[in-house]
Amino acid sequence: MTSTSPRKILVTSALPYANGAIHIGHLVEYIQTDIWVRFQKLRGHTCHYVCADDTHGTPIMLRAEKEGITPEALIARVHGEHSRDFAGFHVGFDNYYSTNSEENRQFASDIYKKLRANGKIVSRTINQLYDPAKNMFLPDRFVKGECPKCNAKDQYGDNCEVCGATYSPTELKNPYSAVSGATPEMRESEHYFFKLGECEDFLKGWTNTPGKLQAEAANKMQEWFESGLSDWDISRDAPYFGFEIPDAPGKYFYVWLDAPVGYMASHKNLCDRLGIDFDEYWKKDSTAELYHFIGKDILYFHALFWPAMLEFAGYRTPTAINTHGFLTVDGAKMSKSRGTFITAESYLNHLNPEWLRYYFAAKLSNTFEDIDLNLEDFTARVNSDLIGKYINIASRAAGFITKRFEGKLAADLSGDQLLVKLQAASETIAAHFEAREYSRAIREIMALTDEVNQFVDQNKPWEMAKQEGREAELQRVCSILINAFRLLTIYLKPVLPKLATDVEAFLNVAPLQWSDAQNLLLDHTINAYNHLMVRIDPKNIEAMVEENKQSLAPVEAPVAEKAAPSFEIAPIAETCSIDDFMKVDLRIARIANAQHVEGAEKLLQLTLDIGNETRNVFAGIKSAYKPEDLIGKHTVMVANLAPRKMKFGMSEGMVLAAGGDGGLYILEPHDGAKPGMRVK
Ligand code: MSP
Ligand code: ZN
Repeated sequence: MTSTSPRKILVTSALPYANGAIHIGHLVEYIQTDIWVRFQKLRGHTCHYVCADDTHGTPIMLRAEKEGITPEALIARVHGEHSRDFAGFHVGFDNYYSTNSEENRQFASDIYKKLRANGKIVSRTINQLYDPAKNMFLPDRFVKGECPKCNAKDQYGDNCEVCGATYSPTELKNPYSAVSGATPEMRESEHYFFKLGECEDFLKGWTNTPGKLQAEAANKMQEWFESGLSDWDISRDAPYFGFEIPDAPGKYFYVWLDAPVGYMASHKNLCDRLGIDFDEYWKKDSTAELYHFIGKDILYFHALFWPAMLEFAGYRTPTAINTHGFLTVDGAKMSKSRGTFITAESYLNHLNPEWLRYYFAAKLSNTFEDIDLNLEDFTARVNSDLIGKYINIASRAAGFITKRFEGKLAADLSGDQLLVKLQAASETIAAHFEAREYSRAIREIMALTDEVNQFVDQNKPWEMAKQEGREAELQRVCSILINAFRLLTIYLKPVLPKLATDVEAFLNVAPLQWSDAQNLLLDHTINAYNHLMVRIDPKNIEAMVEENKQSLAPVEAPVAEKAAPSFEIAPIAETCSIDDFMKVDLRIARIANAQHVEGAEKLLQLTLDIGNETRNVFAGIKSAYKPEDLIGKHTVMVANLAPRKMKFGMSEGMVLAAGGDGGLYILEPHDGAKPGMRVK
C-alpha cells in the first residue's frame, strides 16, 4: 500500500505494570512501536497509538500496602512517572490511559458476559495455597521454599533458580509465604475458567493466516497446540486489586484478563474525546488495521487468549502481533549490581534520548532476536553515524549559504545525480520501515549519507569559497548538500522526531512529510545553523551507570510479580562441629573456561581447574556474570560434593557465592592462592 490510499491503523504497545520504573529494556518496545507509528503518520495514514498502565493484581496491591498508601494513590503516582519517562523519549502516544478505568471495567465485564453466553466460561473448585496469617491465596511467585529437586533454599513456587527445575508451588519442601512468612495451607476455592481448548480450531486457523505472526511466533504456537490448550483460570479471590466478576461476589478478574482489554478501553477513551467512531475499529468486520507490539515473554497472552477472547465475544481480531526480543546490556541481562539496569529516568539525566532511539533502530529487525546495547559500540556508532556523517553535512554547508548568499538556496538543482539518487531511495526505505526492518532502513540511509560525504570531499566547497568566480558553483554545491540533508532528515524523522523538528526550524520549512522527499528546496531562505546535536561523551555513560549502581543501595525492594522481598540477614545456622566442617573439602579453583548453556536461563557452565584435575560445574550465576569476565579468575569450590545429574549434564561440585537480593557475588581468594590449595 502507498501513501495515496490512506489506511486506518490502531497500534498498541504492551501496558507496563504500574509498580515499577520504566527501564531501557521496556524502551526497546516503546521506541520500536513509536518509530512505526510516526512512520505511518508521515505517510499520511490515520494512525492511533494507545497504551495504558497495567494497574491490577497482587503485586501492586502489596506494593501499595507496603508503602502505606492506597493502590489508587500508587497507580496515580506511577502514571505520572511513566508518562514523564515516555515523553522524555519522545514516545508519542495518542492516549496513555489506565486499566483501572470505567471504560475498562465495562469492556471486561461485557466481554466476560459474552464469553459466558457463548458457553466459553466454566467454574470449578480448585486447591490452592493460602496464607493463614495474611488471609489470602498466594500466587505462585509468593510461595517460597526448598526446591523439590535439588533442595536449594528460598526458591520460588514455580521454578528453581539453582537447578532450573520447574514445578508447582505445592511441590516445594518447607514452603512459606513470601508475604508473611507463615506456612501456607491448602484451601479450596471456586474459580472461573475460560475454555481455551474449545477455541483451538479458531486459533489454528487464525495462526495460519499469513501475516498474523512472525515465523518464530507461529512455531511457538505450534508447540503450544501440540502440548494441548488447557482451560485458563481467569478469577482470583479477594483480597485482590481489580474488577469484581459480574454475578460472582468476592471474585475478581485475574489481571491478565483485563489487561489486554485495556487496549480497547484506552482507545475508547481517545475516540470519545476526539469524536472518532470506536466501532469502526473494533466491530467484527472492521477494515481498520489493529497491531499489537509486544515482547516475546507475553506472546502466549496475546496470540492465544486475546484473539480467542475477541473472537468469541464478537469483536474483530488483531491484524498482526509484532513480537520483539529482549534487551541485554554489554552482552548480559541487565544487572542492578553492575549498574546496567538502567532506568529511563537515569538515562535522561545524562544522555540524549534520540541517541538511544537511533541505536535501537540500527539494531532492530522483524524477529525475536534479542538486541544488545553495547555501551562502547553505542558511543562509537552514534558519534560516527549521526554526528560524524549526518549532522556534519549540514554544518559543512550551512555556513557558506548564510555568509555568502544571505541564506538563499540555489533556484535550480535539476538533474543533480546525487539528489535524484536520494529521492529514488524513498520507497525502498519506506518498505523497510513498514516491515519493521529498521536496521535495513538505517543501513540504506547511512549508505546514502556516505555518498553525500564523498560528494563533499570531491567538490571541496571550502576551496571553492577561496577562489574567485566560483560563487555560483559554491552555492549549487552547498544547496545540493542542504537538500541532501533535508532528504536524509525525512528518512530519519520516524527515529529522530525532535531533531527533525529542529532541522525544520533551521531549514525554515513546515513539518516534513514522507511525500516531501519528492520535491526539493529551491530559491528558499534558510536560517543560520545552530548546533543540532553533540557527540556522546563516554563520561556521561559512566555517570549514568554509576547512578544506577547507587540506586541499588536503598533497602526498599519492589514487591513485584518477579521481584524478591528486600534483603534480609538470614539467621545463623545451627552449630556444627569442626569435624562436620572438615567433611567439606573446599579447594581453590581457576576458572579455565566459562560459557553459556543453551536453553538454560540461570546457568553458566564452568570448567574449574583444581590443580591435578578439572571439573565441570553448572552454576546459577548467569544473572550476575558474563562468561568472558570469569575466565582466568580464581574462586573457591566444594570439591567433594556428590556429582549431580542435571538437565544439561553432570555437575561435579559447586562454587561458593554470597547471595541475596542485592545481587550475587562469587568468592575470589587473595592473590597468590593456587588451584588445588585446600581452604579451611
Ligand atoms: N503488564 C504486562 C503487559 C500487559 S499487555 C496487555 C507486562 N508488563 S511489563 O512491564 O513487564 O512489560 C511491558 C513490555 O516491556 C512487555 O512487552 C515486555 O516484553 C517488554 N520488556 C520488559 N523488559 C524487557 C527487556 N529487557 N527487553 C525488551 N523488552 C522488555 O508484561
Ligand atoms: Zn533446584
